[in-house]
Amino acid sequence: MQIPTRIQAEAYLEEAAQMNPGLWVEHSRYAAKAAHAIAQRLPEMDAEAAYILALLHDIGRREGMFNLLHCLHGYQFMQTEGFPDAARVCVTHCFLSTMPNQRQLHWDGTANELEFLQEYMQSITQNDYDHLVLLCDSISTGNGYCLLEKRIVDVTLRYGLYENSLHDWRSYIKTHTDFESRLGCSVYALLPGVVENTFGFETGENDGRKCIQKLP
Ligand SMILES: [Fe+2]
Repeated sequence: MQIPTRIQAEAYLEEAAQMNPGLWVEHSRYAAKAAHAIAQRLPEMDAEAAYILALLHDIGRREGMFNLLHCLHGYQFMQTEGFPDAARVCVTHCFLSTMPNQRQLHWDGTANELEFLQEYMQSITQNDYDHLVLLCDSISTGNGYCLLEKRIVDVTLRYGLYENSLHDWRSYIKTHTDFESRLGCSVYALLPGVVENTFGFETGENDGRKCIQKLP
Protein backbone atom coordinates (compact mmCIF):
# COMPACT_ATOMS: atom_id res chain seq x y z
CA MET A 1 0.00 0.00 0.00
CA GLN A 2 1.35 3.43 -0.93
CA ILE A 3 0.89 5.41 2.26
CA PRO A 4 3.19 7.51 4.46
CA THR A 5 4.62 6.17 7.70
CA ARG A 6 2.81 6.97 10.94
CA ILE A 7 5.46 9.61 11.75
CA GLN A 8 5.05 11.24 8.32
CA ALA A 9 1.25 11.10 8.62
CA GLU A 10 1.33 12.76 12.03
CA ALA A 11 3.63 15.46 10.65
CA TYR A 12 1.16 16.12 7.80
CA LEU A 13 -1.65 16.47 10.32
CA GLU A 14 0.41 18.80 12.53
CA GLU A 15 1.21 21.01 9.55
CA ALA A 16 -2.46 21.02 8.51
CA ALA A 17 -3.52 21.93 12.06
CA GLN A 18 -1.27 25.02 11.86
CA MET A 19 -2.78 25.98 8.50
CA ASN A 20 -6.43 25.47 9.51
CA PRO A 21 -6.89 24.78 13.24
CA GLY A 22 -10.16 23.24 14.37
CA LEU A 23 -11.96 20.29 15.92
CA TRP A 24 -11.40 18.35 12.70
CA VAL A 25 -7.82 17.69 13.84
CA GLU A 26 -8.86 15.85 17.01
CA HIS A 27 -11.68 14.18 15.06
CA SER A 28 -9.00 12.76 12.74
CA ARG A 29 -6.96 11.48 15.68
CA TYR A 30 -9.99 9.77 17.23
CA ALA A 31 -10.92 8.23 13.89
CA ALA A 32 -7.36 6.88 13.54
CA LYS A 33 -7.40 5.28 16.99
CA ALA A 34 -10.79 3.70 16.30
CA ALA A 35 -9.58 2.33 12.96
CA HIS A 36 -6.57 0.78 14.69
CA ALA A 37 -8.68 -0.71 17.51
CA ILE A 38 -11.07 -2.32 15.02
CA ALA A 39 -8.51 -3.45 12.43
CA GLN A 40 -6.24 -5.12 14.97
CA ARG A 41 -9.09 -7.51 15.77
CA LEU A 42 -9.47 -8.48 12.13
CA PRO A 43 -6.58 -10.70 10.96
CA GLU A 44 -7.20 -9.80 7.32
CA MET A 45 -6.54 -6.10 8.01
CA ASP A 46 -3.34 -4.15 8.71
CA ALA A 47 -4.01 -2.06 11.82
CA GLU A 48 -1.10 0.32 11.22
CA ALA A 49 -2.29 1.08 7.68
CA ALA A 50 -5.84 1.55 8.99
CA TYR A 51 -4.54 4.08 11.56
CA ILE A 52 -2.60 6.07 8.96
CA LEU A 53 -5.42 6.11 6.41
CA ALA A 54 -7.99 7.26 8.98
CA LEU A 55 -5.58 9.89 10.37
CA LEU A 56 -5.29 11.44 6.90
CA HIS A 57 -8.86 11.08 5.60
CA ASP A 58 -9.65 14.79 6.25
CA ILE A 59 -6.18 16.15 5.43
CA GLY A 60 -7.75 18.27 2.68
CA ARG A 61 -9.04 20.54 5.43
CA ARG A 62 -5.53 22.00 5.51
CA GLU A 63 -6.71 24.23 2.65
CA GLY A 64 -9.33 25.99 4.81
CA MET A 65 -13.06 25.97 5.49
CA PHE A 66 -14.61 23.99 2.65
CA ASN A 67 -17.43 21.50 2.54
CA LEU A 68 -17.15 18.44 0.27
CA LEU A 69 -14.36 20.12 -1.66
CA HIS A 70 -12.04 19.08 1.19
CA CYS A 71 -12.18 15.56 -0.29
CA LEU A 72 -10.65 16.73 -3.56
CA HIS A 73 -8.11 18.91 -1.74
CA GLY A 74 -6.99 15.91 0.30
CA TYR A 75 -6.81 13.71 -2.77
CA GLN A 76 -4.69 16.24 -4.65
CA PHE A 77 -2.35 16.79 -1.70
CA MET A 78 -1.73 13.10 -1.05
CA GLN A 79 -1.27 12.38 -4.77
CA THR A 80 1.29 15.17 -5.00
CA GLU A 81 3.13 13.68 -2.03
CA GLY A 82 3.18 10.29 -3.79
CA PHE A 83 0.64 8.40 -1.67
CA PRO A 84 -2.26 7.30 -3.90
CA ASP A 85 -3.79 4.96 -1.30
CA ALA A 86 -4.01 7.79 1.24
CA ALA A 87 -5.38 10.03 -1.55
CA ARG A 88 -8.05 7.43 -2.19
CA VAL A 89 -9.65 7.52 1.29
CA CYS A 90 -9.74 11.33 1.13
CA VAL A 91 -12.34 10.78 -1.62
CA THR A 92 -14.01 7.52 -0.64
CA HIS A 93 -14.97 8.61 2.88
CA CYS A 94 -17.28 11.20 1.30
CA PHE A 95 -18.67 9.27 -1.64
CA LEU A 96 -18.71 5.60 -0.81
CA SER A 97 -22.46 5.21 -0.79
CA THR A 98 -23.47 8.07 -3.07
CA MET A 99 -21.90 9.14 -6.32
CA PRO A 100 -20.69 12.76 -6.27
CA ASN A 101 -23.32 14.00 -8.71
CA GLN A 102 -26.10 13.02 -6.31
CA ARG A 103 -24.89 15.29 -3.54
CA GLN A 104 -24.60 18.58 -5.36
CA LEU A 105 -26.45 20.34 -2.57
CA HIS A 106 -23.23 20.18 -0.58
CA TRP A 107 -20.83 20.47 -3.47
CA ASP A 108 -18.70 23.62 -3.23
CA GLY A 109 -16.31 23.02 -6.11
CA THR A 110 -16.67 23.40 -9.87
CA ALA A 111 -18.63 21.11 -12.21
CA ASN A 112 -15.35 19.82 -13.66
CA GLU A 113 -14.04 18.93 -10.22
CA LEU A 114 -17.26 17.08 -9.46
CA GLU A 115 -16.95 15.20 -12.73
CA PHE A 116 -13.38 14.23 -11.87
CA LEU A 117 -14.51 12.75 -8.54
CA GLN A 118 -17.36 10.91 -10.20
CA GLU A 119 -15.00 9.31 -12.71
CA TYR A 120 -12.54 8.48 -9.93
CA MET A 121 -15.21 6.71 -7.88
CA GLN A 122 -16.32 4.76 -10.94
CA SER A 123 -12.72 3.66 -11.54
CA ILE A 124 -12.16 2.01 -8.15
CA THR A 125 -13.50 -1.07 -6.38
CA GLN A 126 -14.39 -0.40 -2.75
CA ASN A 127 -12.19 -2.16 -0.21
CA ASP A 128 -12.13 -2.88 3.53
CA TYR A 129 -10.13 0.25 4.33
CA ASP A 130 -12.61 2.51 2.52
CA HIS A 131 -15.41 1.06 4.63
CA LEU A 132 -13.44 1.13 7.87
CA VAL A 133 -12.51 4.81 7.45
CA LEU A 134 -16.13 5.63 6.62
CA LEU A 135 -17.24 3.89 9.81
CA CYS A 136 -14.62 5.55 12.01
CA ASP A 137 -15.37 8.95 10.48
CA SER A 138 -19.05 8.48 11.29
CA ILE A 139 -18.59 7.66 14.99
CA SER A 140 -15.75 10.10 15.82
CA THR A 141 -16.28 13.70 16.86
CA GLY A 142 -13.66 16.25 17.89
CA ASN A 143 -14.37 15.28 21.51
CA GLY A 144 -14.44 11.51 21.24
CA TYR A 145 -16.70 8.69 20.09
CA CYS A 146 -20.46 8.68 19.92
CA LEU A 147 -23.39 6.60 18.72
CA LEU A 148 -23.56 6.55 14.93
CA GLU A 149 -27.24 7.47 14.85
CA LYS A 150 -26.63 10.50 17.07
CA ARG A 151 -23.82 11.73 14.85
CA ILE A 152 -25.99 11.31 11.76
CA VAL A 153 -28.70 13.48 13.33
CA ASP A 154 -26.17 16.08 14.52
CA VAL A 155 -24.60 16.37 11.06
CA THR A 156 -28.02 16.59 9.40
CA LEU A 157 -29.11 19.34 11.78
CA ARG A 158 -25.95 21.27 10.89
CA TYR A 159 -25.92 20.80 7.12
CA GLY A 160 -29.49 19.83 6.24
CA LEU A 161 -30.90 16.96 4.21
CA TYR A 162 -29.88 16.23 0.63
CA GLU A 163 -31.30 14.08 -2.09
CA ASN A 164 -29.74 10.83 -0.94
CA SER A 165 -29.71 11.28 2.84
CA LEU A 166 -31.73 8.15 3.62
CA HIS A 167 -29.68 6.05 1.23
CA ASP A 168 -26.48 7.25 2.90
CA TRP A 169 -27.80 6.64 6.43
CA ARG A 170 -28.72 3.08 5.52
CA SER A 171 -25.26 2.63 4.05
CA TYR A 172 -23.52 3.92 7.23
CA ILE A 173 -25.65 1.62 9.39
CA LYS A 174 -24.95 -1.35 7.14
CA THR A 175 -21.20 -0.68 7.24
CA HIS A 176 -21.40 -0.52 11.03
CA THR A 177 -23.35 -3.78 11.38
CA ASP A 178 -21.10 -5.54 8.84
CA PHE A 179 -18.01 -4.73 10.92
CA GLU A 180 -19.76 -5.76 14.13
CA SER A 181 -20.66 -9.14 12.70
CA ARG A 182 -17.03 -9.63 11.64
CA LEU A 183 -15.78 -8.51 15.05
CA GLY A 184 -18.32 -10.53 16.98
CA CYS A 185 -18.87 -7.61 19.34
CA SER A 186 -20.10 -4.05 19.44
CA VAL A 187 -17.76 -1.48 17.91
CA TYR A 188 -18.61 0.71 20.90
CA ALA A 189 -17.21 -1.89 23.28
CA LEU A 190 -13.78 -1.20 21.76
CA LEU A 191 -13.92 2.57 22.17
CA PRO A 192 -13.88 4.71 25.33
CA GLY A 193 -16.33 7.46 26.20
CA VAL A 194 -19.28 6.50 23.98
CA VAL A 195 -21.86 6.82 26.79
CA GLU A 196 -20.41 10.15 27.94
CA ASN A 197 -20.26 11.66 24.47
CA THR A 198 -23.59 10.35 23.27
CA PHE A 199 -25.79 10.95 26.27
CA GLY A 200 -23.95 13.63 28.25
CA PHE A 201 -23.49 11.28 31.20
CA GLU A 202 -20.35 9.99 32.84
CA THR A 203 -19.95 6.48 34.19
CA GLY A 204 -19.20 5.97 37.85
CA GLU A 205 -19.70 3.80 40.91
CA ASN A 206 -22.50 4.42 43.43
CA ASP A 207 -23.17 2.12 46.38
CA GLY A 208 -21.16 -0.56 44.65
CA ARG A 209 -23.36 -0.50 41.54
CA LYS A 210 -22.28 0.88 38.20
CA CYS A 211 -24.36 3.90 37.35
CA ILE A 212 -24.34 6.85 35.05
CA GLN A 213 -24.43 10.42 36.28
CA LYS A 214 -25.47 13.51 34.37
CA LEU A 215 -22.49 15.64 33.44
CA PRO A 216 -22.60 19.17 34.88
FE1 LIG B 1 -13.88 13.10 8.86
